[in-house]
Amino acid sequence: MSYYYKLGAIPHKRHTQFRQPDGSLYHEELISVQGFSGVQSLLYHLRPPTQVYKVLSHQDTKIAYEESSALRHRHLRTADVTAGGDAIAARIPLLVNSDVCISVAQPTEPMAYWYRFAHGDEVIFIHQGTGILESQYGVLPYRPGDYLVIPTGVLWRILPDAESEQRMLAIEAQGHIEPPQRYLNRYGQFLEHAPYCERDIRPPQDLVAHDEAGEFEVQIKAQGCITHYLYHYHPLDVVGWDGHLYPYALNIEDFEPITGRVHQPPPVHQTFAAAGFVICSFVPRLFDYHPLAIPAPYNHSNVDSDEVLYYAAGNFMSRRGIEEASVTVHPSGIPHGPHPGMYEGSIGKERTDELAVMIDTFRPLRLTAQATHLEDLNYLYSWSA
Ligand SMILES: [Fe+2]
Repeated sequence: MSYYYKLGAIPHKRHTQFRQPDGSLYHEELISVQGFSGVQSLLYHLRPPTQVYKVLSHQDTKIAYEESSALRHRHLRTADVTAGGDAIAARIPLLVNSDVCISVAQPTEPMAYWYRFAHGDEVIFIHQGTGILESQYGVLPYRPGDYLVIPTGVLWRILPDAESEQRMLAIEAQGHIEPPQRYLNRYGQFLEHAPYCERDIRPPQDLVAHDEAGEFEVQIKAQGCITHYLYHYHPLDVVGWDGHLYPYALNIEDFEPITGRVHQPPPVHQTFAAAGFVICSFVPRLFDYHPLAIPAPYNHSNVDSDEVLYYAAGNFMSRRGIEEASVTVHPSGIPHGPHPGMYEGSIGKERTDELAVMIDTFRPLRLTAQATHLEDLNYLYSWSA
């Protein structure tokens, strides 16, 4: 994140003696990305964060892919995917390349362990449900519409509220996910034209240092497997931290749409930038106001990207047959555009209530074997008059 934040107790000077009430030292940990040249935070633990006492097991995270098939536009209906398990176990990977893995999840249980992804940041879009994202950095309550941005290195778990039905879109990057550089000035502050700013970012709150002995499980996803570790002490034992690296929430309702007299291109919807892909938010907004404007998007040949849309709510103007939690994939190579009748039909419409998340990747995506079971095979022909 672009700005400095702190919670809890920290010493006046970094890397100096900071003592607990019994006179022993707190244990400082630097979490830094890109070696020592990226964002970083300093955390102060009750005990060293290094005390693994047992490796329980490790499991392969290998994904089964679709066999080769005809290049086509895809529509995946994810509304009825199997619910169950916690926020990690419930993930169903749908679309993958070397930069990103896009999954959906309908967890029904709290995570009984803490989790860290070692190779990149994650964004979890909360389509439905409330709960908390608990981490070494404090407690972050979430609600529908939140993008939970979790940098690599953060140890976290998701605890859904009781009787709150959960539906999530998980975007796991092999790199960092950040606000687009063009939204920031050279000091890292959000500029006036940015569609959101620091006031919309919700950092963790209520830091609790857990001083508990017992058996605590941590799972780390790295190098093609998830390894399960046991610790004798609660891993969330941080009394204070400061820095620029921390998980945060941004609600899609706080993304202010940019509109124009004629149709605005997708970059106006960009919310996050990552290595190899972007994340955009389509939110309720007024349509174009040129007297001859056509609000529906023009036909589009996306030559260098695969376009993925996750439909969260509202009536998606240019698409027929799409429902909540539908995912469409418009791969590079074949043009796409409004469905028959929608181009002319959009004229004179004043506003849209659509809510969707778009992920545009610069390398082709592969469908997983699980995704093929969700496919609406007629979608490719839905433009046929
Ligand atoms: Fe497009």
